[in-house]
Amino acid sequence: MTNKRKKISKTVSLLMLTAGILLSSCSKKEDVFVDRKVSFNSDWSFHLNDSIADKDTIGATTKWRTLNVPHDWSIEGKFDEKSPAGYGGGSLNGGLGWYKKTFKVNAEDSTKVTSITFDGVYKNSEVWINGHYLGKRPNGYIGFQYEISKYLNYGDKNNEIIVKVDNSKQPNSRWYSGSGIFRNVWIETTDKLHVAQWGTYITTPKVTAEKASVNFETTIQNQNSESKKATITTTIFKEDTKVTSVTQNIIIGANANQTIKQLSEVENPVLWSVEKPELYTAVTEISLDDKIIDQYKTNFGIRDFKFDVNKGFILNGKQVKIKGVCMHHDLGPLGSAINTRAIERQLEILKGMGVNGIRTSHNPPAPELLELCDKMGFIVMDEAFDMWKQSKTKYDYGNDWDKWHKKDLVDQLLRDRNHPSVFMWSIGNEIPQQWDESGVTIAKELAVITRQYDKTRPVTAAMNPPVNMNIDAVTLQFEQKNVQFNPIAKSGALDLIGYNYAHQTYQYHQKNFPGVPFIATETTSGLETRGYYDAVSDTIKKWPVRWDLKFTEGNPGNTVSAYDQVQAPWGSTHEATWKVIKKYDFLSGMYIWTGFDYIGEPTPYEWPSVSSYFGIVDLAGFPKDVYYMYQSEWTDKTVLHIFPHWNWKTGQTVDVWAYYNNADEVELFLNGKSVGIRSKKGDDLHVMWKVPFQPGTLKAVSRKNGKTVLETEIKTAGNPSNLKLTADRSTIKADANDLSFVTVDILDDKGTLAPNANNEIQFSLKGNGKIVGVCSGDPVSHESYKGTKHTALNGKCLVIIQSSNKTGRLELTAKANGLKEAAIVITAE
Ligand code: GAL
Repeated sequence: MTNKRKKISKTVSLLMLTAGILLSSCSKKEDVFVDRKVSFNSDWSFHLNDSIADKDTIGATTKWRTLNVPHDWSIEGKFDEKSPAGYGGGSLNGGLGWYKKTFKVNAEDSTKVTSITFDGVYKNSEVWINGHYLGKRPNGYIGFQYEISKYLNYGDKNNEIIVKVDNSKQPNSRWYSGSGIFRNVWIETTDKLHVAQWGTYITTPKVTAEKASVNFETTIQNQNSESKKATITTTIFKEDTKVTSVTQNIIIGANANQTIKQLSEVENPVLWSVEKPELYTAVTEISLDDKIIDQYKTNFGIRDFKFDVNKGFILNGKQVKIKGVCMHHDLGPLGSAINTRAIERQLEILKGMGVNGIRTSHNPPAPELLELCDKMGFIVMDEAFDMWKQSKTKYDYGNDWDKWHKKDLVDQLLRDRNHPSVFMWSIGNEIPQQWDESGVTIAKELAVITRQYDKTRPVTAAMNPPVNMNIDAVTLQFEQKNVQFNPIAKSGALDLIGYNYAHQTYQYHQKNFPGVPFIATETTSGLETRGYYDAVSDTIKKWPVRWDLKFTEGNPGNTVSAYDQVQAPWGSTHEATWKVIKKYDFLSGMYIWTGFDYIGEPTPYEWPSVSSYFGIVDLAGFPKDVYYMYQSEWTDKTVLHIFPHWNWKTGQTVDVWAYYNNADEVELFLNGKSVGIRSKKGDDLHVMWKVPFQPGTLKAVSRKNGKTVLETEIKTAGNPSNLKLTADRSTIKADANDLSFVTVDILDDKGTLAPNANNEIQFSLKGNGKIVGVCSGDPVSHESYKGTKHTALNGKCLVIIQSSNKTGRLELTAKANGLKEAAIVITAE
């Protein structure tokens, strides 16, 4: 069926290409453009078996399951305390997996070049086409392409592609990696004369309000056995309108590559910024005898930026503080199988809090993440490695370093360097070798490679702090200039000094590194469980005090207070960190650890916890309270957020916090009686009341110049009785890919959220679609994310619905013992 579909779509493409030839003078982009890439995601067969070590042993008896990629088999498994992946890896198993796919290729493509592109396979993939070995790629996060033309059967005969994925040696990651063909796969068919893979490089060396120079460096590949005389035209479009174009004639030798340079100008350029991420598109066309034979599209942005030693990050002449978050690549309950809508939802939630930067910790991201950051306006720190030659876990990339690091880094640079959202290259995170001369040699090598492929962005590294101690000792050390800096920081290899944590030391940066700008590559590591609160909020806890504290030994529930009062010992609270970043202009900004919770690295507890507590947003996508502190500081939105919930024991003293902005004061009322007026003093970021609990209504009123700005209330909830379903989108595309994220709230009979409800909820779906994920955000839950039932955490749960190829109604029903059932309809169009 897929093959049929592919055939049809190819025929359509060919027709469009013909049309394109005739319409080449058209001024609208979609009139002429034909994408040479076709999705190759559907109808793969999959088999997971640790015992098969060689592809030849896959026999007729092997049990294959049909699925679409992107696919992550680890997320389908059971949490296992003894998993070789370890707690860091999320206690989910890797293993050895096989994928295969049968397909036909049009006879007329036999004169063309056909390649298969994998955007990322975790890890150690090996690929065969019709029995021919194409190669191996150990790194799970980088894309790679194999040309398959000469091994293909054209016309009616089948072709078979086999992919072996070996993620069996564990541990190989400090976080949950996922396993399998977890990013998109494409088939690309081109003429023998074509733009090479990642063959365009677009820079804008001079940008003013009146004019921007736009330079194109394009690599043309000629796979013909004779030389060719061709015309290369690069046309810039803004939306659908042609802006300008440049043409050049070339003679390219047989079986040769040639890089050509074209210069162009855009009058009155519309600049890319965080608020208005304006994009342009360059369409490169190769013509032979006046016929267009290849088209290649590159999105780019026109913007001017620098990292300034005194003013931090300057974008289009304006100082912009980078308010960033670090993100791992997993998508919570969906595991590491990428889905564009799921990434987009994460970014939307982060934008809502005022985030303007993403660090792709600690590896090249899915291409779709960068495309979304281009479109949505994020300042990306694009990171290459979590280790160099010296490993952090036994079977990690350190073992592949010698053979692969150069190729992996170059491919990342070629792949990502046109993205306007990418503003810096990070060559590594907390590299153990940063402390010795071997690290200096490698840092210099990587920086040279990076600048060879892109001189427009600074090279940085996320280094460990020079010191990790209390503030007085830090001050003393820094004042005595007695600090042991990482040799790579002092080596001159980096254009931008990046430190993780140690926010107390940032103020001394200019003294120690005169002339080199600064970015806080990683900060905070605050810890919270959504909706859980310790009684006393105004003490700071550095956890873990002891790593061996277990579930049963005085930490019932493995919970962490959601007041901003708990931090990893190497980190700081959210408020303390932001106060420092905010204070000094020369600090370009920060990337907080982390935007979302992620699977693995459960800190401060280990098993039975299986996912992190670091997120400002939990694993399901529900914001923790501190989200609103940032929103009050980082957005124009008027905020008044009070917490905790209002279900306590009568007489118990409860610390009530408020995050607010655009107001002078907040007054709190309990059952109509004032509890007091509070205002933020100095650099305060919240206000607090100690309130003896009585059931009822707690109401906060923020005022400016005596006038009410906002009012908000929380109420004591009665017994859980109802379920409420809310879809983030009630209409989705019927493309077997799109998602609707449905929030389940457990309410009392008056509609108040039951803040301690942890009912098990059962889901069923009618219609052509499926439930692809369930999650509550509870780091201790061992229920499958792939099931159809899940236990809520503190009144909330998430269920994710995916469309099929068929249009129609999808009716989701949620049931729980003792609660009224609820349903919602989602339409697939
Ligand atoms: C950092 C590290 C991150 C994560 C974090 C947890 O040191 O770079 O990957 O492990 O600690 O706090």
